[in-house]
Formats: sequence, structure tokens, C-alpha cells
Amino acid sequence: MSDQQIADLYAALMASEPVPAPAAASEINFPFNIRLLMAGWQNMFFEPKRFEPDPERSDEYNRGKFLAFGPAHCVACHTPRNLLGALDWDKAFTGSPGGTGGKAPALTRAALIEDGYDAATLVQTLKDGFTPGFDVLGGPMGEVIAEGTSKWRDEDLQAVANYLLAE
Ligand code: HEC
Repeated sequence: MSDQQIADLYAALMASEPVPAPAAASEINFPFNIRLLMAGWQNMFFEPKRFEPDPERSDEYNRGKFLAFGPAHCVACHTPRNLLGALDWDKAFTGSPGGTGGKAPALTRAALIEDGYDAATLVQTLKDGFTPGFDVLGGPMGEVIAEGTSKWRDEDLQAVANYLLAE
């Protein structure tokens, strides 16, 4: 995200009503709960870099890719991870067998088309959770839709749908 986007996010958080509640206990398991080890993990797997738009592609495509990889976290749940919990970037959007984000299906163009999606139905599914196969998305994805994508602007939903379905 850009510095400006992070500053905007901070302003929005600071403008929301505080809730009096004790901080929740950490649910992160050993050894990932050891901060010093996390520094090592970051060293191995985290490469700090900003999203770089592809100049060969449209603004809409780049906006969709930015949302799917960045603030919307689609890639984080829909991609397999290695034994140490890091995303396998070569298999981005090929689905995840389970873990904290749940068992998440592939969101590649081929997988989406096979499941009956086109851009319009994908946008609709991200609004209401009903799939073209007459399923209702639940679990972590239900939460993503209820608390997230159902509140997005249409143009952002369309950007993500068109990005995922792009060749
Ligand atoms: C917290 C983890 C998580 C995040 C973040 C997430 N998903 Fe999902 N997604 C899931 C899970 C788990 C399922 C399977 C839900 C089910 O079967 O009820 C799913 C299912 C789906 C499906 C249904 C696919 C099919 O085959 O019918 C679509 C489409 C989808 N997600 C798109 C997205 C998009 C787009 C984003 C980003 C805006 C996103 N998801 C972010 C976990 C996640």
C-alpha cells in the first residue's frame, strides 16, 4: 500500500468509536509466538515491496490485482503454504488445503470458469455469498463477504473479478 493509503487507514481506525474490552490472548502457536524467531521467518520469507502496476495492463486490471494481493488478502487464503506457513507464490490462487483461512478453492481463471463464474456472477457472489452452483459460501469466506466485499464499491468488485478472470 502507498504511504497515503496507510495514513488514510490509520485515520479511519482512529476515528472509530473505541470499544472497552480486554486485549484477546494470542492464539499463535509455538514456535511462531516467539518474536525473535519471527524476525528470522521474516528474513526468509518477507520481502518488503510496494505493489507495482503492470504498465502493459489496464488501470482496472492493476486495481484488481492490487486489491487481491494487498488489502483484500484474497491471495493469503486461496494459496497453499509451505511447512513454515509461508505462501507458495508460484502457486498463487491455486487453492489452499486448509489452515487458519480454511480449505479454500482455487481462484484461477480456469477453476472459476469451471465453477460457472463469469465477471458478473463473481461480482454478485462477492456481494451476497450465493455461487452460480447454488451454494452459499460460509466459514472464513462468509466473514470476508459479510464484513468486507459486500460493502465494497461496485468498481472495486468488478476490478477484482476481471483481474481473476483475466487471461
Ligand atoms: C480468510 C480466508 C479467505 C479470504 C481472505 C478470502 N477467501 Fe475466498 N474462500 C475462503 C474459503 C474458506 C472458501 C470456501 C468457502 C465455502 O466453501 O463455503 C472461499 C471461497 C471463495 C469463492 C468460491 C469459489 C467457488 O469455487 O465457488 C470465491 C469466488 C472466493 N472465495 C473469492 C475470494 C475473493 C475474491 C477474495 C478477496 C476479496 C477472497 N475470496 C478472500 C477463504 C477466504
